Amino acid sequence: MHQVNSHHGFQMDLVNSIDTPFYYYDMALLDRTIEEIKRHTAGTEYIVHYAVKANGNPHILKTIAQHGLGADLVSGQEIKAAIEAGFNADKLSFSGVGKTDSEIRLGLEQGIACFNVESVPELMVINDLARHMGTVAHIAIRVNPDIDAHTHRYITTGTASNKFGIGIDDLDQAIDMAAKMENIDLTGLHFHIGSQITSMQPFAMLCDTVNRLTEHYRQRGITFRVINVGGGLGIDYSMPDERPIADFKSYFDTFKRGLKVNGNQQIHFELGRAIVANCGSLISRVTFVKENRSKKFVILDAGMTDLIRPALYGAHHKIQNLTAAPEAAVETYDVVGPVCESSDVFEHDCSLPVTRRGDLMAIRSAGAYGESMASCYNMRRLPGCAFARDKQL
Ligand code: LLP
Repeated sequence: MHQVNSHHGFQMDLVNSIDTPFYYYDMALLDRTIEEIKRHTAGTEYIVHYAVKANGNPHILKTIAQHGLGADLVSGQEIKAAIEAGFNADKLSFSGVGKTDSEIRLGLEQGIACFNVESVPELMVINDLARHMGTVAHIAIRVNPDIDAHTHRYITTGTASNKFGIGIDDLDQAIDMAAKMENIDLTGLHFHIGSQITSMQPFAMLCDTVNRLTEHYRQRGITFRVINVGGGLGIDYSMPDERPIADFKSYFDTFKRGLKVNGNQQIHFELGRAIVANCGSLISRVTFVKENRSKKFVILDAGMTDLIRPALYGAHHKIQNLTAAPEAAVETYDVVGPVCESSDVFEHDCSLPVTRRGDLMAIRSAGAYGESMASCYNMRRLPGCAFARDKQL
């Protein structure tokens, strides 16, 4: 075993204390990130719901709940996890195109603040179930605003060709129906245009669409208590140390400038990635370094089962060697996992200090859609987790 230096701000005693691969969470950074959100939303009617799908680790959820954020949920299991973590039911919203009857019943039993309804058939089912349960469902209609967020095609959600929401042409009919239903309380409109959006322009376009629609409905005598603009703010995957916190100022300023808010209307946000991505790193040990005629490979004990983003989206995550001396010579490697799939590659042609068997590696910015998308393919164990600067553990 090589001497282990403290590198890149990681607590190396913690890194060395558990079996790899595991997720290392910088809880102080999570706190600072949320404080930044609070700073930019103070004194406004903005309410941020954390999109639990980004990371449902119970300790992360508990920490976010303690900060007073709400939660955006997409399954019955997420509803249960959020309640267990201490989120208040009046700050829970439930999204998704395929909510099952039992998930809807669970949401109604728990008295969640809002169902984000994605279709007319769903609206009818929620109304029926609420009537049977003798209750009223608070809902927002999810609008597909046909805005291209110019992000990866798998994570663009607001264009007319994908499955999400109700198209603007069909909106009048859905709103009129919802407004008349006895067991439905129509609170507002919901939007979500995509994820990992780093230009403010799509969000500015979204503001224009929202303004147009709220004016259209105001003229028809319908006003909304809530406008939910979804999530999607991106982070800087290339500079996790230099820019660990997303550009919340530009993001919230875009809405402050762009949205025409009426009276006591609340604006809801559903941020996932921007809250948790940079506080998580996947820590892995080098199993082998192998060379063939044209390439050198670093083979990790972490694979696509632990972090699927590079294999699924071609996503780039910064990779660091936490063990090598800073002055070590640099070498070019393909960094790969052990899974029996050619796509199990974290990065091609990655520049790293000369790397050896047993070295510890950090795959950065993996706190969002990392642990939550892990699988057991190849009968692998799910990755573990460790929490840095957290006195309670
Ligand atoms: N609200 C709704 C309705 C959503 O569908 C999503 C994400 C969010 C909020 C949160 O978006 P965020 O703020 O995290 O961008 N697995 C992909 C990302 C999929 C995002 C799905 N929806 C990835 O690893 O990039």
